[in-house]
Amino acid sequence: MSNDKYATPLSSRYASEEMSHVFSLRNRFSTWRKLWLNLAIAERELGLDVITEEAIEQMKQHLQITDEEIKLASIEEAKVRHDVMAHVHTFGDTCPSASGIIHLGATSCFVTDNADLIFLRDAYDIVIPKLVNVIDRLSKFAEEYKDLPVLGWTHFQPAQLTTVGKRATLWIQELLWDLRNFVRARNDIGLRGVKGTTGTQASFLALFHGDHDKVEALDKRVTELLGFDTVYPVTGQTYSRKIDIDVLSPLSSFAATAHKMATDIRLLANLKEIEEPFEKSQIGSSAMAYKRNPMRCERVCSLARHLGSLYNDAVQTASVQWFERTLDDSAIRRISLPSAFLTTDILLSTLLNITSGLVVYPKVIERRIKGELPFMATENIIMAMVEKGASRQDVHEEIRVLSHQAAAVVKQEGGDNDLIERIKKTEFFAPIHSELDSLLDPSTFVGRAPQQVEKFLANDVKKALEPFKDSITSEEVKLSV
Ligand SMILES: *[C@@H]1O[C@H](CO)[C@@H](O)[C@H](O)[C@H]1NC(C)=O
Repeated sequence: MSNDKYATPLSSRYASEEMSHVFSLRNRFSTWRKLWLNLAIAERELGLDVITEEAIEQMKQHLQITDEEIKLASIEEAKVRHDVMAHVHTFGDTCPSASGIIHLGATSCFVTDNADLIFLRDAYDIVIPKLVNVIDRLSKFAEEYKDLPVLGWTHFQPAQLTTVGKRATLWIQELLWDLRNFVRARNDIGLRGVKGTTGTQASFLALFHGDHDKVEALDKRVTELLGFDTVYPVTGQTYSRKIDIDVLSPLSSFAATAHKMATDIRLLANLKEIEEPFEKSQIGSSAMAYKRNPMRCERVCSLARHLGSLYNDAVQTASVQWFERTLDDSAIRRISLPSAFLTTDILLSTLLNITSGLVVYPKVIERRIKGELPFMATENIIMAMVEKGASRQDVHEEIRVLSHQAAAVVKQEGGDNDLIERIKKTEFFAPIHSELDSLLDPSTFVGRAPQQVEKFLANDVKKALEPFKDSITSEEVKLSV
């Protein structure tokens, strides 16, 4: 890597090797070769004898492009100003028996667009298992903490209690929807196929002397040889850029899930209730030695914001395509498509690391509940008193007065909520003094949270992960700094 040139941190710092490889030059040019090979195979099968067995053999032997060939092709490209033709020449020089038939009948988009579709599908095949594992790890966390009461927040103001595990199911449910969207988008990807310059297949019709059936069979056979079920029935020169919208949309939607979840964890870190994993030697701040910053979640939010915006690139590009194609899709797609998958890949690795080691502080959680619960318990206290024969209105008034006193202690004196002590000292409440502890048991304030977690994990999560159970691992995910 050069120190004198900008390199995108997406690949230089964060993304996995496998995802970087999908969008690498070697994979791009080797995939073009694979497309040329399969075109030749199908053309020969359909009777084009100019394509010899030997030509096909030579192409098969050199599917992986070498560094030397990439260099030669770039020299050629500088001369002819055309990347696909430069690679046709280079491939032909390596495979002399094929040099006259490589790319026969095809237009550049036969390789460029079909290859892009292959990359998009391969990239989905990398992120889907990672998403599955994030869901799996978070589900174990939800199971472990399904009963642990925690203060819930609405408007980021204390609300009723929930449980730590129940809150995690809110994140998991969104991730399940992302998984559904990823799989759907992945399975919807087809090939552009063998369509010619404006999509009419004119060159192939000429090649097969007007035999329509053979042209159709060629399109079908190449699709099949490349392992796709679908070929788009009609195209212009390119596949419709609307496909890019459908491919990027689940990723941008996932970005929102990741951002929300990481934000929740950052807020929890501030409350000291839950922290992302922290390493023994990690330094939080160069000056404030005690600091433990939620830097992984901050990275998630940072990158998620970028990913969320990439959807817009695809929408704009699809909107401005003119007739059978314009080339203003090219430069932006080279940036947004790889960026979207590299960013998704990084987000998932980071979430995988975070969800493997979330640290929970039950004592802090309990202490915060204790500060708020007395107020929440007033309704139950009123009902318990009424059962002992008191008038609801009288109890309400007594509690109102004591509550205001306790609130003044908290807000004006900075003290702890002492409502319960005040109730204990007030003779009026004597009939329920012995019940106060059980009236204040936090686990009686969480409603059906534990049962909801159990059901959700046993039904929804289990069913969604079932098809992927072989890709669930407990591997560690090392992150770069
Ligand atoms: C998370 O990443 C850090 C930094 O690379 C690594 O030390 C740690 O083992 C990872 N944790 C897990 C559970 O993958």
